[in-house]
Amino acid sequence: MKKMLICLAAAVLFSACSNNRDGARPPMMGWNSWNAYMVDISDSIIMNAADMMIAKGLKEAGYDHVNIDDGYFGYRDSLGYMVPHPVRFPNGMKHVPEYIHSLGMKAGIYSDAGHNTCGSNYNKDPHGLGAGLWQHEIQDAERYFNDWGFDFIKIDWCGGSKLGLDVEQRYMRIREIIDSVANKPIDINVCRWRYPGTWVSKVGSSWRVSGDIRPNWPSICDMINKNLYLSAYAGGGHYNDMDMMVVGYNGGKDSAFWEDSYGSNFGLTFDEEEAHFTMWCAMSSPLLIGCDLTYIPQETIDIITNPELVAINQDRLGLQAHVIQHDGEGYVLAKDIEKRHTGPRAVTLYNPSDSALTFTIPAEAVGFAGGMTVRDLNERRDLGTCEVIEMTLPAHYAKLLRVEGKRTDIQVYEAEWAYVQDFTRVRQKEITKYETYPGASCNAVATSVGGRAEGNLQWRDVYMGKGGRYAVSVLCAAAPGTEIVLTVNGKEHRTAVTAEGLNPVNFMADFKRGVNVVTVGNPEVMIPVVDCIRIISTK
Ligand code: GAL
Repeated sequence: MKKMLICLAAAVLFSACSNNRDGARPPMMGWNSWNAYMVDISDSIIMNAADMMIAKGLKEAGYDHVNIDDGYFGYRDSLGYMVPHPVRFPNGMKHVPEYIHSLGMKAGIYSDAGHNTCGSNYNKDPHGLGAGLWQHEIQDAERYFNDWGFDFIKIDWCGGSKLGLDVEQRYMRIREIIDSVANKPIDINVCRWRYPGTWVSKVGSSWRVSGDIRPNWPSICDMINKNLYLSAYAGGGHYNDMDMMVVGYNGGKDSAFWEDSYGSNFGLTFDEEEAHFTMWCAMSSPLLIGCDLTYIPQETIDIITNPELVAINQDRLGLQAHVIQHDGEGYVLAKDIEKRHTGPRAVTLYNPSDSALTFTIPAEAVGFAGGMTVRDLNERRDLGTCEVIEMTLPAHYAKLLRVEGKRTDIQVYEAEWAYVQDFTRVRQKEITKYETYPGASCNAVATSVGGRAEGNLQWRDVYMGKGGRYAVSVLCAAAPGTEIVLTVNGKEHRTAVTAEGLNPVNFMADFKRGVNVVTVGNPEVMIPVVDCIRIISTK
């Protein structure tokens, strides 16, 4: 009989960066001026923020970027070079990144891929007209990176969209120019407000997956939903950006501004802030603080500097957690940390709902055989050993656990974890999608798979402790007679669907010890629904 220990009874609170040795640079941490000030920035506001990063221990906790957003533009001089706003930056710009650097931090700046910035439109800032990179790419790169010394640039899309530019070509071109002009490596954030396509890893160290975040719980959930099934596209030092963290508004100076904009639907409780931060860590989003740091409450600082949560965001493997369980309204996500395949895992419990939820998570769902040793990273305490994690979370809350044990080969690979070469949410030709699908494993599937080689599902990291022959069953729905094509390390296998509805289609295939690459689809025919694959040892 299976021994079931309860890791922790219902009593869940109501209550340093590791160097990334896997070659993957961790997500950016820092502060950005936009949410607190919009276009009304100045050199003193930015330099004060830099001072606050030091004074409040944020830099020490890993927040080492100070990023200027929209609003610094003045005009282009007779040669076309950007001159900063004469009132907001009366002493020019160079001394601002210099000051940030002198404090041991990095400096970021902002522009648009097109002609006009977003602020010139939405915030009626006339200085943003013609301030984008369009037709000034070389000059702007010279000025921003070589003359002024910025290390990072966020590149928005309002102007690009207005000019009707091709998003991929435009950002690739900008990347090329920056690389050829800048005298040091420059990080780029692609701010296209949706997952733009797999090309984006060649351009950005991060890219926005949504429109602008709002300081309320529904917006946090919306950001998480938009990123739930994008884990395949993060990694190798490139991350899905869930936007700035809307923490620190409780009683802060910004409250009045936000209250004007959002009325009563404003602000997060401290528990919600913790859930927000926990999810950004689990999903390896950049961690950019957006509030006025002068007024940031100590409770917020304590939340966002929890070194054990920060370490999950900055983990050396640089992976984004994916959904391993989704029952009712709760989600459980997991990712490898510290050591791929054989090391510990970060397991996240997420309760977006308005009432308390109990999670029951057996070891095999997490990828462990038998006992698991569990540590609560939010509370920074060990919870003991168990075979099933059972935990109740209050409404609007999330928790990160570090779980260790003996790993099994993970035998189930969900379709919504798979990589699709031409997956994009930008172009109208959005073909393959990840969707919720009641009754499917984890309640989600991929739809419209295949029909072209680039539309097949690909799991690039199917790890086997032992090589040999395995039975693979692909749970999918397609018209009887449709051939499902499975490849394992390039070797193709075909089996026809025999029945209507969601059914297993079975294969036998050879796997090698270690990492295998598995694809499912059919380059000629579209498979309407793929739920998951199960790999079963034949011994
Ligand atoms: C938006 C962007 C915001 C901010 C703003 C500046 O497009 O999503 O994060 O940069 O533009 O105008």
